[in-house]
Amino acid sequence: MAGADASSAAPTAPADWWRRLGLAGPVVQAPMAGVQDHRLAAAVCQAGALGSLPAAMLAPAALAAELQALRAATTGPFNVNFFCHTPPVPDAAREQRWRAWLARYYAEAGLDPQAVPAGAGRAPFSDALADVLEPLRPAVVSFHFGLPAAALIDRVKRWGSLIVSSATTVDEGLWLQDLGADLVIAQGLEAGGHRGHFLDDDLSRQMGLLALLPRLARALGVPVLAAGGVADAAAVRAARQLGAAGVQVGTAYLCTPEATTSALHRAQLAGDAARHTALTNLFTGRPARGIVNRLMRDGGLLSPEAPAFPLATAALAPLRAAAEARGSTDFTPLWAGQRADACRTVPAAELTRELLAAWSA
Ligand SMILES: Cc1cc2nc3c(=O)[nH]c(=O)nc-3n(C[C@H](O)[C@H](O)[C@H](O)COP(=O)(O)O)c2cc1C
Repeated sequence: MAGADASSAAPTAPADWWRRLGLAGPVVQAPMAGVQDHRLAAAVCQAGALGSLPAAMLAPAALAAELQALRAATTGPFNVNFFCHTPPVPDAAREQRWRAWLARYYAEAGLDPQAVPAGAGRAPFSDALADVLEPLRPAVVSFHFGLPAAALIDRVKRWGSLIVSSATTVDEGLWLQDLGADLVIAQGLEAGGHRGHFLDDDLSRQMGLLALLPRLARALGVPVLAAGGVADAAAVRAARQLGAAGVQVGTAYLCTPEATTSALHRAQLAGDAARHTALTNLFTGRPARGIVNRLMRDGGLLSPEAPAFPLATAALAPLRAAAEARGSTDFTPLWAGQRADACRTVPAAELTRELLAAWSA
């Protein structure tokens, strides 16, 4: 781990980073793999904020198509987001134990466990993905789970994109700054989706945004964006008060018509179930926050039997498909943050304009 000293690192992007990009304010729509494509990103860009395209589950050809569609839909700057985990070495014994635990569900659904393939489903940032990205030179490229190898960071910097990644502790923020992040996202524990932690998987070190944001803002020379529970005007103002140089908002966009959030997921967001979100590693192998459902209740939320990220997903895929076909979310990852109550079925542009207005109020 890099032992960076905050005072020795020169800021590479000033607090008015968003003006330099030509945005109306420092509002970023969080990239959300699985629930959005270029349409949500484009709507946010058109409203004057930074739209994000999640690429974690896109192969190069699909990424190229999405980028082309996004560029055609907006002339504004945008962000493209990648995961940068180290792919795990498959562990046959662990996979076996995981499938043994799932056997009761296969039996209940009448599925043959032997017919279920293993596999990753999410690939980290690579030269092949960078080849697709380079001609577009997006204004911002963001990463989750740290940063890719130095050669890849240099490549992205050479073509001029700002580099952004999430920190869940002060140590992670200093590490990101030291390795070249131009902006750092303070991802509070309230956030929906995967925790971005990468230096230490001890969840007791994870902080709520109210604690994490001022500590990161004080420790870092680069601008810090607030994420996690920022879902309305009051939260945007509070983030600014606590030293944020902008906000990244995810959950609040889940019910906008431009998101691809499924009808089943939307129904859960709108109901009482959304009052209880929790961290679970059962869906992918890494802790992520979602609405508590049957798999999470049965599995005790965090299990050492779940294969390492992202290998846990494959064995669940047929169970999820079978359940969803009969209208059940028992095996669906219902990613959402603790402010799921703030989800509204309003156009993404309307929500974006509210968040922008709150920043400058
Ligand atoms: C459904 C969903 C999917 C997400 N997928 C990603 C992703 O692909 N990449 C990423 O960097 N962050 C992802 N996140 C996390 C967001 O970047 C961000 O940290 C979070 O949405 C902020 O908290 P909030 O949901 O309370 O607004 C996801 C969040 C949600 C809710």
